[in-house]
Amino acid sequence: MSSPDSSTSKPRVLLFGAGSIGTVYLYLLSKVATVTAVCRSNYDVVKEKGFIINSAIFGDDIHFQPAVVRNCTEAATSSSEPFDYIVVCSKVFPNTIPDIIKPAVTPNHTTIVLIQNGIGIEDEYVEAFPTNPIISTVVYMPVAQRPAGVITHGDIELLEVGNYPSTSNSPQAANFTKLIESAGGTAKLYDDIQFKRWFKVILNVAWNPVCALSLSTDVDFMLSSPNATDFVLDVMLEVADVAAAYGHQFSKEDVQFQLDRAKVRIQSKKGIEPSMLQDVKEGRKMEVEAIVGNVLKKAKAKGVRCDRVATIYFLANALDAHVNPRDS
Ligand SMILES: NC(=O)c1ccc[n+]([C@@H]2O[C@H](COP(=O)([O-])OP(=O)(O)OC[C@H]3O[C@@H](n4cnc5c(N)ncnc54)[C@H](OP(=O)(O)O)[C@@H]3O)[C@@H](O)[C@H]2O)c1
Repeated sequence: MSSPDSSTSKPRVLLFGAGSIGTVYLYLLSKVATVTAVCRSNYDVVKEKGFIINSAIFGDDIHFQPAVVRNCTEAATSSSEPFDYIVVCSKVFPNTIPDIIKPAVTPNHTTIVLIQNGIGIEDEYVEAFPTNPIISTVVYMPVAQRPAGVITHGDIELLEVGNYPSTSNSPQAANFTKLIESAGGTAKLYDDIQFKRWFKVILNVAWNPVCALSLSTDVDFMLSSPNATDFVLDVMLEVADVAAAYGHQFSKEDVQFQLDRAKVRIQSKKGIEPSMLQDVKEGRKMEVEAIVGNVLKKAKAKGVRCDRVATIYFLANALDAHVNPRDS
């Protein structure tokens, strides 16, 4: 039966993690869905003025004012109907988020969409929400929030989407892919999204900690010594070995392709600052476990030796603890 209010037939989306990535997706989704954002440090400014998005793809000076709440409990109580999707775009810090989002997740209903980096990040959601569909994604989108509420997006925008686990026959990954496309975004559906996750993590394990540890952009690192680029390639190849142990085969050319994404920038000398470098500079916690630690754990479980990844992990972890002293 159709509703007299067409807005009630739109999917209801809650964003958890209203930072750089999440805001761009919420803006897109606002064209086709009823959207709410859980905001933390940017709550006051977004509540008062909304977001401003400057995007090389979607346009400059876009003013976007979603409904905002301070947390998932407020989101759940402010809404008479369940959320169809909760889109999780916070940084990945293991074993923290499921408890926080729980009040807004309706069992057997809400689809949980993870738009986050890393590998092996989904299982804690399966454990916490055994009756909810889970979508795992890989995002290519250079974007930053600075100052609070102001989002700057570069010229890449791609969301790769799949069910988790990949053997699930849920229609939700296909539905979410269509939703993003209908909103004007670029989304591609994959039967095996883990293959795509491994491909991205090859990139992230190498560049994120290397740039953070050296306080260098990717280009500055490559130019810092004659064999610096070879070192990055060797790190990437170690990650590819781990992926292979899990049935995801990448050729040396595939890995070289990931390295070439950065090498093309050498000529212009315009390097990029991967998120861990930005985090260190701004005194924020880095996603060391989700991106590097989980690869190392998976390597250990299959007996794959990756000495460079291990070295990077211990150094990055120590840097993270130095920048963000842990409690006690
Ligand atoms: N940015 C990129 O270019 C990019 C590209 C590809 C992939 N990614 C991946 O995308 C994911 C999101 O990255 P991002 O750059 O968008 O991160 P971000 O800008 O730091 O945004 C994360 C947001 O989550 C919020 N948050 C964290 N914990 C919260 C809590 N308990 N309650 C409410 N809000 C909370 C943060 O609030 P506060 O401000 O209060 O901390 C922040 O607004 C990461 O996995 C990242 O690796 C990022």
